[in-house]
Amino acid sequence: MKYLIGIDLGTSGTKTVLFDEFGKAIASSTVEYPLYQPENGWAEQDPADWWDACVKTLQSVMAESKISAKDVAGIGFSGQMHGLVMLDENGEVLRKSIIWCDGRTAAECADITNRVGAARLIELTANPALTGFTAGKILWVRNNEPEVYKRCRHILLPKDYLRYKLTGKYGAEVSDAAGMNMLDVPNRCWSDEVLKKLEIDHSLLPDVHESSELAGHITAEVAALTGLSEGTPVVYGGGDNAAAAIGTGVVEKGKAFITIGTSGVIFAHADSVAVDPGGRVHTFCSAVPGAWTVMSCTLAAGMSLQWLRNNFFAPEMNTAKGLEQDPYEIMTAQAKRVPIGANRLIYLPYLMGERSPILDPNSRGVFFGLSAIHTKYDMLRAVLEGVVYSQRQNLDVLLGMGVEFSEIYATGGGGTSSVWRQMIADVFNLPVTTIQNREGPALGAAILAGVGTGLYSSVSEACKSIIKTNPSQDPIKENSTKYEDYYKLYCDLYPAMKDSFGKLAGL
Ligand code: XUL
Repeated sequence: MKYLIGIDLGTSGTKTVLFDEFGKAIASSTVEYPLYQPENGWAEQDPADWWDACVKTLQSVMAESKISAKDVAGIGFSGQMHGLVMLDENGEVLRKSIIWCDGRTAAECADITNRVGAARLIELTANPALTGFTAGKILWVRNNEPEVYKRCRHILLPKDYLRYKLTGKYGAEVSDAAGMNMLDVPNRCWSDEVLKKLEIDHSLLPDVHESSELAGHITAEVAALTGLSEGTPVVYGGGDNAAAAIGTGVVEKGKAFITIGTSGVIFAHADSVAVDPGGRVHTFCSAVPGAWTVMSCTLAAGMSLQWLRNNFFAPEMNTAKGLEQDPYEIMTAQAKRVPIGANRLIYLPYLMGERSPILDPNSRGVFFGLSAIHTKYDMLRAVLEGVVYSQRQNLDVLLGMGVEFSEIYATGGGGTSSVWRQMIADVFNLPVTTIQNREGPALGAAILAGVGTGLYSSVSEACKSIIKTNPSQDPIKENSTKYEDYYKLYCDLYPAMKDSFGKLAGL
């Protein structure tokens, strides 16, 4: 029997899963790490924490599975997108990574649009300049930390840094590089025109490849550290959403998934480059060679629930610890006791500003309609509902672009909650299906490794044999009708507050 390893570098932690060649999870390990917020709206993580988590989780799956290291056929990655990792000439990290949900680069994004031209930028990179994307972060460091920029010799994305540490080789791949505002997305190569206009030296960027290509091999040093075998093949891997698409079998037209992890994403496969002229949703390269994707991204989906848990649900967290249960399970069960609409309380999930579809780094979270009648349980229900309304707004944008699907797969932490899944089914008025194997991005990463090492002939062949679905959860008509009025009011709230968010940011 051969085995594959998927390393999923997330925002709350890194999860490494060892699968057998049929996609069955044999051992899994997660190590969490902090998110640093040095200023309101900023978000950074330490690449040293990612590396530490990568090593510990690899050690753990190798020890737990008790397999022979020689039987690991390949290793792949899934990684949080857009984060900026800067290395010096010795490959040492120069500063903490400015990550995907950081909103500090509004001025740099305006500069990018100005230098390249709004229409030309979309033509070349398939996306407008967005604060979450990497190019703005590079310019921010150049403008604000020129000493760091001067010493920078290599620019990598988060999971590409882990791959470099495991193999000693610098590299990038299309699904993640597409989120940097520097890749020619239709042609799947760096855009020299954009790099030139932004005055970013091409030599700072590694060569860019397809996600399932072989990238390198485990070094002797890493083998000694982790229990892996020296020379184990490592593939490029994909951005987290591209990898999750493979792990949920969303690899052909007409298929889509929703994930509620730290971010909230609706993702559809596309056979050609489909762009929203308003830039409200993103167009990236798929991890499937020769295909693209269209997806929305909200910044604080699972993060909203995590924020609520950390600040208001300490007793539940303790109970969960005592019972060895997931605190989110206890919380979502409590949300069921509150009626639809949370007793007339609506939550806007803009804790980190917002990307899709409002594109406003100045926006912030709101509880609208808070009354003395409300308890933290109403707030909990409102948070769950608000996150789903924010996804529905993006569903409406995708449907408006002509993207078609008749059911949606659910993955990520939110996908494991039946309460959240039912809300999605009701608010979207669509059947929601889950995959039997719940490992989503890590499974997708392992499948890419299997394709790159010849264990599987293609991504779609692997998905056909490995991905099995559960029966779907259908919308309940009566609920859908009730939610619709709340959803309409939700949509009215941001436009009414837009100017005030701007003023608040200026105080
Ligand atoms: C996608 C995005 C997030 C991150 C973190 O554009 O920013 O989904 O990849 O999960």
